[in-house]
Amino acid sequence: MDELRLKLAVQKSGRLTDPSLDILFRCGLKLSRGKDQLMGYGENMPLDVLFVRDDDIPDLVQEDVCDLGLVGLNVLEEKRLELRERGQAARFQQIRTLDFGRCRLSLAVPEGVSFEGSSSLRGKRIATTYPFLLQRYLRERDISADIVTLSGAVEIAPRLGRADLICDLVSTGSTLQANHLREVETVMESHAVIIRTPLTLPPEKDEWVERLMMRIDGVQQVKESKYIMLHAPRSALPEIRRLLPGSESPTIIPLEGSTEKVAIHAVCRENVFWETLESLKKAGASALLVLPVEKMLA
Ligand code: PRP
Ligand code: ZN
Repeated sequence: MDELRLKLAVQKSGRLTDPSLDILFRCGLKLSRGKDQLMGYGENMPLDVLFVRDDDIPDLVQEDVCDLGLVGLNVLEEKRLELRERGQAARFQQIRTLDFGRCRLSLAVPEGVSFEGSSSLRGKRIATTYPFLLQRYLRERDISADIVTLSGAVEIAPRLGRADLICDLVSTGSTLQANHLREVETVMESHAVIIRTPLTLPPEKDEWVERLMMRIDGVQQVKESKYIMLHAPRSALPEIRRLLPGSESPTIIPLEGSTEKVAIHAVCRENVFWETLESLKKAGASALLVLPVEKMLA
C-alpha cells in the first residue's frame, strides 16, 4: 500500500522549511510528526513528506526516491548544469512556480575591498556551494577565476583566507552583514518551485498530484485576494469596474426598493488598499465592505 502514497521532499531546516510546510497546511494536509523527524505522515492525504537537505532534493526526484520535491530554483539550476556537464539529462519536471523563497545568488566581497565590475574577478578565488552556476557566469563574461567549491559555511571563507570573495545566496542579507561582506553583483534570481518525476505514476497517485497542484494554485491565488461588496448608482458602474483591482466580472445585484442603485460583489485578485476604497467612494460607492478570501477553486 505504501507504494500508493506520494512522497514529497522538502528542506529540513532552512529558509524554505516554514513556508513549505505553511503552503502544505493551507492545502489541507495534516502531518503527524515532529520537525526533527525525517518523515511526516499525511493523516488525511496519501502523501508523506521527507525532510532532507535542499541540495539533495533534485537527486531524490531524479532517482525516483521521491515523486515530488519543493526546492529553490537555484538548487535546481545548479543540478541541471552539473548533469549537463556529465552528459546526462535532468529527470525532473518543474510543474509549479511558488511565490515564496525569493532570494538571489550573489557575489559578495569583504567590507573595505573595492569592486569595479566583473573585471575585478580576474584571477580571484571565489568560494561557493554553486560551482556550476558560478562557472557559467564567469564563462559568459570571459573571466578566468578560481572557483573554491565548499559544502557550506561559505560566508567565513574570506576570513579564513580560503577565498577573496564569495558567491552565495542572499535573502534578507543578514548573513552577509553578520560576516562583514558586501553584495556586489547578482548571478541569479531565485524562488521556490515544485518538481516531479517524469515517470508515469499509478492513477491513484497521479490524481493526488493533480489535486495537490490545484490546491496550491488556489492557495497562491487567494493570498492577496479580497471579496469586496458595495452599493453604487448604476451610472457609476463603468468607473467602479475600472477601479476594482484585478476583478474580471463583478456580480451586479438590484437593490430592493431602488431603481437607480445596485449592489456590486467582486473578487479582487489583488490587495484592496485604502486608496482604492477612497477612489470608489469618490466615484459614488457606499456601504463598502472588504472581506478576506479563504479558499478558491476555479
Ligand atoms: C542560504 C545561504 C545563507 C542564507 C542567506 O541558506 O546559504 O546561509 O540562506 O539568507 P539571509 O540573506 O536571509 O541571511 P539556505 O537556507 O539556502 O540553506 P543552505 O545554504 O544551508 O542549504
Ligand atoms: Zn543548500
